[in-house]
Amino acid sequence: MGNMLASLKVWIDDRFPMTKMWDEHLAKYYAPKNFNFWYFFGSLALLVLVNQIITGIFLTMYYKPSASGAFASVEFIMREVPYGNIMRNLHAVGASAFFIVVYLHMFRGLLYGSYKKPRELIWIFGMLIYLALMAEAFMGYLLPWGQMSFWGAQVIINLFGAIPGIGEGLAEWIRGDYSVSDVTLNRFFALHVIALPLVLLMLVVAHILALHEVGSNNPDGIEIKQKKGPDGIPLDGIPFHPYYSVKDIFGVGVFLIIFFIVVFFIPEMNGFFLEKDNFVPADRLVTPEHIVPLWYFTPFYAILRAIPDKFLGVMAMGAAIVVLFFLPWIDRGPVKSIRYRSTAFRINLFLFAAVFLFLGYLGMKPPTPVYTAFAQILTAMYFGFFAALFFISRNETNISVPDRVTFK
Ligand code: HEM
Repeated sequence: MGNMLASLKVWIDDRFPMTKMWDEHLAKYYAPKNFNFWYFFGSLALLVLVNQIITGIFLTMYYKPSASGAFASVEFIMREVPYGNIMRNLHAVGASAFFIVVYLHMFRGLLYGSYKKPRELIWIFGMLIYLALMAEAFMGYLLPWGQMSFWGAQVIINLFGAIPGIGEGLAEWIRGDYSVSDVTLNRFFALHVIALPLVLLMLVVAHILALHEVGSNNPDGIEIKQKKGPDGIPLDGIPFHPYYSVKDIFGVGVFLIIFFIVVFFIPEMNGFFLEKDNFVPADRLVTPEHIVPLWYFTPFYAILRAIPDKFLGVMAMGAAIVVLFFLPWIDRGPVKSIRYRSTAFRINLFLFAAVFLFLGYLGMKPPTPVYTAFAQILTAMYFGFFAALFFISRNETNISVPDRVTFK
């Protein structure tokens, strides 16, 4: 049996770079030995992506993409289809889990300067993934054809109408109709189940290829490739497999415990993961009292609403996302990790995280004058983070960076 497997391996390797790829990306990919908690989220993002694809395939088997059948087909999945409720909750909770994991993964990048040279492209691919993920989530949310699906899509697509000149035509082109309708639902279904997942998968492959080209950063922000042993292997590197594959499996275990508790016991998360209004079928004659997107969009929604002029609001919201692409060039400091950076940098970063969370909270609230005033201050602070970073990082007094990674 062993001999047969060995000869099969040789047979395949003569025709396909199986062992070569295994070595290059796992068994002989040398990762820094000091990875910590924050390095779990890349592999967890992969796990959630796979979960979304698999559960999505099963949901598609019973889902009907039509304005007259969509809501009822989701109810059918929840009540009649064997294990349908589990598939649906895995998918819906998976969407929120995806954003939690990706936000933590991005924050790790900020903590350890992982976007800096030579990892700018890893960051750019990451940002493109983030954009695709937002589009994927937005289009997926229309599919159950509940009240919030319908009105959320209506509000967001109407934003394009604010663009001078071409706006109205553009919004109509996206909807395929004068208002969100069956036509919109059909095209969003096509984009959600095939076009965007393909884009996401290709971007994730590019993201990881770029990472493996330059090598991983680490909590000390030290380039391990600069200190190699006589065998050409980084002194502070360990093979990804088995060391980090085992560590990541542990992370996956802990993540799944938490994930399943939510999926099986609190899938709606009290309206955070599945909004209450979405248990009512879409009705174009009844507008919900507060139209709010799900939590992962609310920081940007708060920025949009903070600006009284609709067009400027849309521009500010777009700029809030676009500015993140330029982070590798806004941060001009030579030191990567927060461990060795100035107090000013640290305060600026933690303020930014707090501002983002607070904006997210405000985006869920009705836009009263007091909340709007807060949102305006926080929007200024959001952009202030990037301006401050640009100046702080120019002449920063850093703590001296050690030669080798610190590892206990
Ligand atoms: C589907 C979503 C994503 C997947 C599956 C994914 C996957 C991964 C994996 C497996 C790694 C290596 C392991 C690790 O460092 O944790 C990684 C590293 C990285 N990712 Fe992502 N990622 C995603 C989204 C993003 C986003 C949205 C960004 C930022 C905009 C980003 C930025 C980075 C950076 C900068 C690194 C290098 C980190 C370092 O070496 O310190 N990723 N990603």
